[in-house]
Amino acid sequence: MKICVLPGDGIGPEITAQAVRVLDALRSDGLPIETEEGRIGGCAVDADGVPLPEATLTLAQQSDAVLLGAVGGPQWDNLPREQRPERGLLGIRKSLQLFANLRPAILYPELANASTLKPEVVAGLDIMIVRELTGDIYFGQPRGIEERDGETVGYNTMIYSEAEIRRIARVAFDIAMKRDRRLCSVDKMNVLECTQLWRDVVTDVAKEFPEVELSHMLVDNAAMQLVRNPKQFDVMVTGNMFGDILSDEASMLTGSIGMLPSASLDANNKGMYEPSHGSAPDIAGKGLANPLATILSAAMMLRYTFGNEAAAARIESAVKKVLADGLRTADIYEAGTRKVGTAAMGDAVLAAL
Ligand code: IPM
Ligand code: MG
Repeated sequence: MKICVLPGDGIGPEITAQAVRVLDALRSDGLPIETEEGRIGGCAVDADGVPLPEATLTLAQQSDAVLLGAVGGPQWDNLPREQRPERGLLGIRKSLQLFANLRPAILYPELANASTLKPEVVAGLDIMIVRELTGDIYFGQPRGIEERDGETVGYNTMIYSEAEIRRIARVAFDIAMKRDRRLCSVDKMNVLECTQLWRDVVTDVAKEFPEVELSHMLVDNAAMQLVRNPKQFDVMVTGNMFGDILSDEASMLTGSIGMLPSASLDANNKGMYEPSHGSAPDIAGKGLANPLATILSAAMMLRYTFGNEAAAARIESAVKKVLADGLRTADIYEAGTRKVGTAAMGDAVLAAL
């Protein structure tokens, strides 16, 4: 189990350190885990001049899985586009062909009050968003800002091939088969041809999965339904840009984005695992950040890349126990619980493990 660890920027190093402690503990218990660190994002811009150094990409390619913290921060926001930390993230996703991004939104019963929605609307929430990650308007050509007829225009291209839609649809149907067997595909077919093709291809793939109940929803309605009645959803599948937006929305149903892991997989289940949140520069280096999303990302890694359900479940149970014991980082704190920092939260998870 060769794991490339990319702590990145902001709170990235603090939170990945706690997840690595969890992996170290599993190694002591006999799992053949090896970790090696690399640089990505702003720290790589500072040290190597580019957000995704060749050495990092090689290390990631030679590993079975990547554990990533977060990238970005205000000090790099004014760099040219190709040197921005986010480019490193998009570059590694594309180079490793991590087309399937799984973003679960699960509400832990102990955190029901952390949501801004009424507890009865979100109690028991368990949604899996499957976001296509290497296509769409994020990567479509042509793109740019240029002069046309005496004025400046900016443009991007929303594009999906049938093959790209087919492979992400299959991943989503497979996941639905292991859950409640309901899949909602999100598009904007009333306006965009690209997503008409999306709907047609997903409908066709559905024939391979007769046991899954497929529905379709326009993205504006999906955004509304997620806050109106989120529990109607089991698995959602959508393109890169809609998935970016809807997954942030879904994460907030659970109260804190600090709890949500993610997996980005290629066709062979090699994957990159990262918390759904960003680098939180405002609290970086203060030991306040919630490491649970990163620790839960390590659990997803054991499940999806290494097929070790027992080890994944063990980490997830440890996290649930720590929450049940009343420990909270600042982002999920409420009166009557015990506020702890990043390292103390890591200690508690290790003890529970
Ligand atoms: C995400 C992020 C990234 C994205 C940014 C940092 C490039 O928002 O992973 O959701 O848009 O994909
Ligand atoms: Mg996003």
